[in-house]
Amino acid sequence: MKTVIITGASSGIGAETAVLLNRKGYQVVLAARRMNKLEKIAEQLNEHHLLVKVDVCKVHEVESLVKQTIDKFGKIDVLINNAGLGYIAPLAEGKLEDWHQMFNVNVNGLLTCTHKSLPYLLKEKGTIINIASVAAHEVFPNTVVYCATKHAVNAITLGIRKEFRDKVKVCNISPGAVQTEFLEQSEESNNVKQMRDFFFNNETLKGIDIAEAIYEVLSKPAHVAINEVIIRPNI
Ligand SMILES: NC(=O)c1ccc[n+]([C@@H]2O[C@H](COP(=O)([O-])OP(=O)(O)OC[C@H]3O[C@@H](n4cnc5c(N)ncnc54)[C@H](OP(=O)(O)O)[C@@H]3O)[C@@H](O)[C@H]2O)c1
Repeated sequence: MKTVIITGASSGIGAETAVLLNRKGYQVVLAARRMNKLEKIAEQLNEHHLLVKVDVCKVHEVESLVKQTIDKFGKIDVLINNAGLGYIAPLAEGKLEDWHQMFNVNVNGLLTCTHKSLPYLLKEKGTIINIASVAAHEVFPNTVVYCATKHAVNAITLGIRKEFRDKVKVCNISPGAVQTEFLEQSEESNNVKQMRDFFFNNETLKGIDIAEAIYEVLSKPAHVAINEVIIRPNI
């Protein structure tokens, strides 16, 4: 059985991906800070799973995540760097601590998980999936710093591809609007309300749509590497 670590598995895209991959025969390691949410999701999983309380900004917690995974399953085949957040606000109203937190989680957290898992991924000729965004390819007003973090994710994915080529597969999954808890991080404002109306009053994407794309990428034979997937709602 293949072993997959999924960060940010306590809600949204990460939770749907954990459930789908477990159903498809993967040993799944669910990592996030909210254990109560992970325990609820685990009710949908078979016995081939592990829950780990992790803040991806804390290096020692990521080290422990990797150690616990190796202790239980002996290997890491796939790392899904999904933990992330975005604060919606124009630059003029942005809080410095929010800007720093977005970089800490979306970029530094992703780098820490990648750094600590890489030796094991190399052993298995494994796969890294980075959950980027359409914001990795465009820059939108009111989410400029978030877009900057996702552009950084894009650069990291491209660089891993160039430096590791046939040793580790890497893929950027770049969703448009997905109906998750994503907007709940931001303070209420007209901008947030407009985005929520767009996200939830239209037929935008669901977490399962992204989970299925991830499964598709992971299902390709060894000689096929899908490096980029952009998924938008069909509206
Ligand atoms: N929703 C969208 O429209 C959309 C579009 C494009 C890309 N994305 C990306 O998709 C990814 C998943 O987001 P989502 O939409 O599924 O939102 P979500 O439901 O809010 O999920 C975010 C996940 O990240 C985790 N997380 C946040 N900070 C963390 C930290 N310091 N350490 C560990 N885990 C942390 C949260 O878990 P805990 O709070 O329990 O730690 C949660 O499980 C993000 O990278 C986001 O940027 C989302």
